[in-house]
Amino acid sequence: MYSPSNCDPTYCRPAYSDECLLEETLRLRDAFQIVTFFETGSYYGLSTRILAEHFEKVYSCEANRDYWKIAKQNNQNKKNVVLKLQNSSEFLRANVKEGQQHVGFFLDAHCDGKWPLLQELEVIAEKKIQPVIMIHDFFSNKPHLLSNAAKKITMQYVSNAIESIYGLKFSFSQIDMSKFSSTGIFHTKAIKK
Ligand SMILES: C[S@@+](CC[C@H](N)C(=O)[O-])C[C@H]1O[C@@H](n2cnc3c(N)ncnc32)[C@H](O)[C@@H]1O
Repeated sequence: MYSPSNCDPTYCRPAYSDECLLEETLRLRDAFQIVTFFETGSYYGLSTRILAEHFEKVYSCEANRDYWKIAKQNNQNKKNVVLKLQNSSEFLRANVKEGQQHVGFFLDAHCDGKWPLLQELEVIAEKKIQPVIMIHDFFSNKPHLLSNAAKKITMQYVSNAIESIYGLKFSFSQIDMSKFSSTGIFHTKAIKK
C-alpha cells in the first residue's frame, strides 16, 4: 500500500494532472456523450476533483480508509462527486446499473503490485454495457515509471476480459502521457481524431 512517507511525489501526482490524458478523456466524453464517470482508486481524490469539473457525476472508490478520508476532504465542496470506501469490484457492482448508458471508466486501483483490474472488467461485462474504458498504467514499450513492474498490464493480459465486454469488435488505442505513464483506451467504434 502506498504511504505518504514512501511516496515519490512524481509517482503520486494525480493522473489527471496530465493535460494529454484530460484532453483525450474530454474528447471521448463528447464523442460518446458520457455523463457519468467512474474512477477506481481515488488515492487523494485529486484526479476525482479535476474530473468533477468536466462530468455531470463522478463516482470514485478507495480501499484505504486514510486515503479515502483525504479524498473526501479534497472533494468536500464537490456536490457531483460520490466517494466510496470500498473495494473496486464491489464498488462497481453496487454503483453501475445493468445496461447503463453514457458511462466511462478510468481504472486505476492498484497497490503493492496487486491489480483488481480483471475483476473490475468482469463486473463491467456482467452489467451488459459497452462503455469507454480507460486503463491507467497500461504497458508501453516507452520507458515509464511502471515499465519495470513485475506485473504488466498488456493486451494479452486483458484480452479475454475485454472480449467478454465488447466481443471481437472493439477499438483500442493507447496514449503515452509525458514520461510518467500510458493509458490503454477501449471503446466500441472508431471515432474521428
Ligand atoms: C495509483 S493510485 C490512484 C491514483 C488516482 N487515481 C489519481 O489519479 O490520483 C491507486 C489507489 O488504488 C487504491 N487501491 C488499491 N487496490 C484497490 C482496490 N482493490 N479497490 C479500491 N482501491 C484500491 C490504492 O490504495 C491507491 O490509493
